[in-house]
Order: sequence, then C-alpha cells, then structure tokens
Amino acid sequence: MMNFPILDTKVYGHPLVYLDNAATTQKPQQVIDALTGYYLTLNSNIHRGAHYLAAQATERYEEVRRKVQLFVNARNNKEIVFTRGTTESINLVASSFGRGFLKECDEVIVSGMEHHSNIVPWQLACEQVGARLKVIPFNDEGVLDMKVYESLFSQRTRLVACCHVSNTLGTVNPVKEIVRIAHDHQVPVLIDGAQAVAHMPVDVQEIGCDFYCFSGHKMYAPMGVGVMYGREEWLDKLPPYQGGGEMIKDVTFERTTYNELPFRFEAGTPSVGDVLGLGAAIDFMQQEGIENIARHEEELLNYATEKLSAIPGLRIFGTAPHKAGVISFLLGNAHPYDVGTLLDKLGIAVRTGHHCTQPVMDRYGIPGTVRASFACYTTTDDIDALVNAINRIAPIIC
Ligand code: ALA
Repeated sequence: MMNFPILDTKVYGHPLVYLDNAATTQKPQQVIDALTGYYLTLNSNIHRGAHYLAAQATERYEEVRRKVQLFVNARNNKEIVFTRGTTESINLVASSFGRGFLKECDEVIVSGMEHHSNIVPWQLACEQVGARLKVIPFNDEGVLDMKVYESLFSQRTRLVACCHVSNTLGTVNPVKEIVRIAHDHQVPVLIDGAQAVAHMPVDVQEIGCDFYCFSGHKMYAPMGVGVMYGREEWLDKLPPYQGGGEMIKDVTFERTTYNELPFRFEAGTPSVGDVLGLGAAIDFMQQEGIENIARHEEELLNYATEKLSAIPGLRIFGTAPHKAGVISFLLGNAHPYDVGTLLDKLGIAVRTGHHCTQPVMDRYGIPGTVRASFACYTTTDDIDALVNAINRIAPIIC
C-alpha cells in the first residue's frame, strides 16, 4: 500500500500535483520511518565503535550494501560504494580514473545529452593532464547517433561516459550496445543511472558496464546518499578518491596504506541514516514490483504524450521511440519559467530551465523547457490536471 504523506499537501488551495520526479521523488512512509528510526534508536558511528549501538548500526549499514548489490545484480558487495549521490559517484570515478589512467592527448567520449555532472568532472580530469572530450551527437528525436559513436574511437580513447536515461529528453539509451562497442575497443564505460534505477530493472552484469552511478533521492530514498558501482577489477586499480578515516589500513607520516574494497573509497563518516533509508526505498520498490512500476510509467508516458501533443502550439522535445516518463515541452513562444510559475499557482509542480543540460538546449537552440516527470504514484488524473492547467494558462501567455 503506497503512503506518501507529502502528496496530501495543498498548494495555493489546490491539491498538489507533483510532476518533478526527475529532480527528486517523494518519500514513502517506510523510508521516513527508517530514517527517523535510525536517529531514534540506532544513531552511532559505524565500523569502529566497540559498543552495542555501533555494532547494530554497522550491521544494518552493511545489510543495505548487500541489498544494493542484489538490486543492481553486482557480482559482490565490495563493488558497491556509498557516496552522497550521482554527482559524487561520477566525480569519484573521474578524479581517480583521471589520476590513474588519463594522459596528455587521451580522449574521453561523452554523449551530447549528458547532465552537467557527467560532463564537468570529465572536463576537470581532462584539463589536469591535457586530455580532451569527444561528443556523441543525437538527432532531433533525441536518439544517439551510434554510427558516429563508433567512429569516435581512436588509439587514445580511455573511457566512455553516458547516461542510461536522459533527464531532459527521457531517451532510454542502448547502454548494452554502447558498452559492447566500447569493450570491442578495450575501453571501459561509466553509465549515469540517476534517471533509470527508479523506473526500470537495472542489471549491471547484463549491461556489462564498468561503473554505474545513481542517487538515492531519485528512487524514493532520502537525499544525501548515492551509489557508485564499480567492477572489482577496476576498483582494485583506481587510486583513492578522498583521504581520511576509514579508507586507510596504516598511516605513518612517511607512508599510508589503504583499506580493502569498498572502504578504500568511503573516507569519513558516511550518512548512515540515509543509507538505511535507501534500504527501505529498495524494499518499497521491490514490494511494488519494479516491472509494475515500469509498466505503469510507460502507460502514463503514452497517455501524457497523446494529451499534450493535442494542445495547440505545444512542442515536445525528446520523441525517441524508447523513452522513460519524462516530457520536456514548450508552449508557443512563452518562456518556460512563466509557464512553470503559472502552473505552480494551480498546484502543478514541474521543473523549468535547462535541467543542467545546457548542451541539449544549445542543440535545439532554445533557452530551456518545461519538464513533467513521472513516478510510481503519478496518475492519469495528474496528467489531466496538467493538461487542463496548460489549456487554462495558454490564452494568458501565448
Ligand atoms: N538532475 C536533476 C534533474 O534533472 C536535478 O532535475
């Protein structure tokens, strides 16, 4: 039984219609209970305390690591590193991989539809050594050009970084194929799974990727926790990311040796309560059934695409044949911010702007879009409310 208390909120006297799930999902009661329960009954630091609470908290924290391992089908739980979110996960890989494996004139391939968090960390890593980015273009529908992708590989290609699902266009990318092509060139692949894990089953072994990054807060878990899955053979080779407690074996002023996996990449006190919340979020999704969630959101996407396309002057950006529940649009010549603000006054929560994908906006020559994005609790009534609200505001701003 779904129970998302915040969805009962009234906004300016209207029932809240929450359609900003690509930015963050709302939290079910059991996730809120796991988080508050931790602070009410378990709060203590993990892995080092000699007392009861520390042992309990450590056990629960490590249980979630095993849960995440099974959730994405990693080979073992050493391959699951907890971070603050997707951004930190990608920065971890870019920083460590950059220091260990990037040299002057090397190349990193990214797609043209990446979130800034899967562009800028690679730019930073490239700048350090004089390497450069190459970009996979996409067509007007928002589909990656796989022929150009293949042609981008050279003797200097060191890594491919690509999103599983575009946060702006909703495109579900052919990640298995992307990995296969890269591996044919002996190049590892990082997949940004931030917009995928809450919406479809994810199996990192089936995809074959070397790194897979995601956030808790986009999959019904609290903010402040994320995951970096890395193949053990890569994690063994990467230099540490942050230095501090927990990631070391022995420290002297002359030399430090590092802890085993995955702790080598978890410096400092982690956000234990948030990790327990992530465990509760995975339980919630498994109770609902991830296949059922995927089916429900696909139906919503089809319903919403049909209804929105029928509105005069409304243009949808991102019309790939394989999409997740994300619809970006513009209404006539109205600025997306004005549309978003008026929708908000009617209780509809959407995101407006460039969605941290400025190159996508440049590709279409637009300043931004209005974006509606769905989750397991979204209903056709929510879509109808959005459509009615757009029809109401269109004569005012178009
Ligand atoms: N990356 C998040 C989004 O697409 C914040 O909205």
